[in-house]
Amino acid sequence: MDFNDLIRIIDGFRESRIIHSAVELGVFESLTKKPLDSNGVAGFCHTARPTTETLLNALVSMNLLTKSESLFSNSDTVNEYLVRSSNSYMGDIIRFTGRTWDSWGKLTDTITTGRPQEPPYTEKQYGEEWESFIRGMHNFAISRKDAKITTDVVDLSGKTILLDVACGPGTYSYELCLKNTNLNAILFDLPETMKVTKKISSEYELDGRLEFIEGNYKKDDFPVDVDCVLLFNIIHQESSEDNETLVNKIYNSLSKNGMLVIKDHILNDEKTLPKDGSLFSMQMKLITGGRCYNESEIYQWMSNAGFSELQTVGPISPMTSAFIIGIK
Ligand SMILES: C[S@@+](CC[C@H](N)C(=O)[O-])C[C@H]1O[C@@H](n2cnc3c(N)ncnc32)[C@H](O)[C@@H]1O
Repeated sequence: MDFNDLIRIIDGFRESRIIHSAVELGVFESLTKKPLDSNGVAGFCHTARPTTETLLNALVSMNLLTKSESLFSNSDTVNEYLVRSSNSYMGDIIRFTGRTWDSWGKLTDTITTGRPQEPPYTEKQYGEEWESFIRGMHNFAISRKDAKITTDVVDLSGKTILLDVACGPGTYSYELCLKNTNLNAILFDLPETMKVTKKISSEYELDGRLEFIEGNYKKDDFPVDVDCVLLFNIIHQESSEDNETLVNKIYNSLSKNGMLVIKDHILNDEKTLPKDGSLFSMQMKLITGGRCYNESEIYQWMSNAGFSELQTVGPISPMTSAFIIGIK
């Protein structure tokens, strides 16, 4: 690594924060109809003109906007991912990530004390921010093609009941139901999340094929005799002991030959790579106290529970996580 690469990493937070602020202020929405100068953008966003102009110029330097004379326009990337009217909008998850900013400022404290900054799933987090988080999972599943890759990889032919544990938006279940016409899905999550799940599910035409259960996977029973369980993007928020308990509980809810599919960042044996997983592991220690796991740790929980035919699929680009599949 040369000197400039090092400096780029050290100062990388500036670019992240500039995008977070631009999304929070609606800068990209201000430029959807026609190019505007900094006065026009400041008027739309209710911001001060001189600082808005500096922000717009910085966004040009980052190739997110273009500037002609004094008029600013969105780039194609912005129109695809950062404008609310786009089907591939990523703004919800950016808003949620932006909310973790103060916690990142206290990383040194977390590393020193071993404690996360924000125990998750507290009242404080519910409300509009919570909807952003859950919608953010939906953004990722659709925009990064995680849901499309899932329907390509997870073969549910012949299966009729799917249980989606901690389903969040429920996107993977909807897409699997659309692909497998005999499949019905049971969506399980906390009551606050389920409010958002129900809203998102209404955007799909799956009448009569979805059941919603409000529950806590640490305390409440799961339905039994299900053919397949999804445990997607969950294990990173829990300790190894809690994951082992959860995998056991899932084993008991499955019918014979039932399938468990785990999706998450899967680390190498040394827990250093892939980089996305390694950095996400740090984020989880900071935010939830969880971390990412390697294949042998996950295989251990699954084989202890009784699963066999264990296999890892992926990561398949552009998705950065992988699937681990086991059969009861
Ligand atoms: C990172 S999101 C993943 C959502 C979804 N599986 C996906 O991949 O899109 C984590 C989810 O876990 C849910 N959750 C957290 N703790 C839970 C618990 N104890 N019981 C049930 N759901 C829980 C949250 O409400 C949230 O929807």
